[in-house]
Amino acid sequence: MESVRKRRLRYKGKHPRMFFEKYKELNPEKYAENLQKVLLRGQTPAGMHRSICVQEIITALGLLPAKRGVDATLGFGGHAQEILSRIVPNGKLYGLDVDPIELPKTEKRLRDLGFSEDNFEACPINFAGILSLLAKEPEGFDFVVADLGVSSMQIDNPLRGFSFKSEGPLDLRLNPNKGMSAAELLKSLDVKGLEKILSDNADEAEALRIAKSIKHSRIPVETTTGLAKVIHDSLKSVNPDVDKKRIQKTCQRVFQALRIAVNKEFIVLDEFLARAPRALKPGGTIAILSFHSGEDNRVAKSFQEGFDNGIYSSFSAEPIRPTREEKFHNSRSKSAKLRIATKTSCL
Ligand SMILES: C[S@@+](CC[C@H](N)C(=O)[O-])C[C@H]1O[C@@H](n2cnc3c(N)ncnc32)[C@H](O)[C@@H]1O
Repeated sequence: MESVRKRRLRYKGKHPRMFFEKYKELNPEKYAENLQKVLLRGQTPAGMHRSICVQEIITALGLLPAKRGVDATLGFGGHAQEILSRIVPNGKLYGLDVDPIELPKTEKRLRDLGFSEDNFEACPINFAGILSLLAKEPEGFDFVVADLGVSSMQIDNPLRGFSFKSEGPLDLRLNPNKGMSAAELLKSLDVKGLEKILSDNADEAEALRIAKSIKHSRIPVETTTGLAKVIHDSLKSVNPDVDKKRIQKTCQRVFQALRIAVNKEFIVLDEFLARAPRALKPGGTIAILSFHSGEDNRVAKSFQEGFDNGIYSSFSAEPIRPTREEKFHNSRSKSAKLRIATKTSCL
């Protein structure tokens, strides 16, 4: 019988550039060697996330076998995997994530690594609802960790609409089954409302101009590249010589601002910060990794207030930053700031 030979995926040039063309990176079991090459180049393979400040977080949490805790932002499970390997055989980790696409994949990955339900539970809940876990763990937790924002899997997948670098629907929802997409949000806002979002969530200096360009665009802004083009044209209309880097930075801020709005990120972070102390046992530790000032200012303020009110016995007034080596090997770590606080023992 004639064997059917499957053709190699077709793409332009020598190497695949688009997410879905990177079939080797998307099949790590089959192409482990290729994955290593990508990692050595300091890049993140498609469909994977490189965890940040792992060693710093592990040290801060004081992990020992039998400790019980929460990873409030499970993502790829990189931090979770390191935590689990230190708290087994009797410890337990609850991994929270609102993303219904990535959560089952991560659960499977951790199960395949041998972590059973006794040690690990994947929870499809928002970290603002952390106190609901007390129904299962009435004494609270030894530690809580959160690594805010989005994972590389979410950013890189064009269908999720997080990146202006590839064409996709302008979605930006961590949970695409819930709430409004960014395109729908843009339709629902007037110029003033949109300007406020761009300015409040990302300190965008050109907020009003960009808001007007989006709202007055002849074609409805429904795709990632469509939005990037409107931003590009808007900046060029006042300064034809505006450089590429400035346009790119503005795109980053606009996408960040919309993502924060669509997922109500500041609201749920404030709720999480207010509730986390009640989820911790006396003497328990919380570690939060943030990626922009809007997040870090909230974490710093909450820890400072908790310390002033006697809820926390210690906290990091200065954030811990990734090492120079980590920033070199993983460019996504560059803006990371880690803050830690410990709950007062006698509470
Ligand atoms: C930066 S990634 C975490 C990566 C993870 N620490 C790792 O090592 O693989 C952030 C994750 O948190 C999730 N997330 C963001 N906000 C959330 C929230 N309010 N509640 C639960 N999960 C959230 C995102 O869906 C994403 O998967």
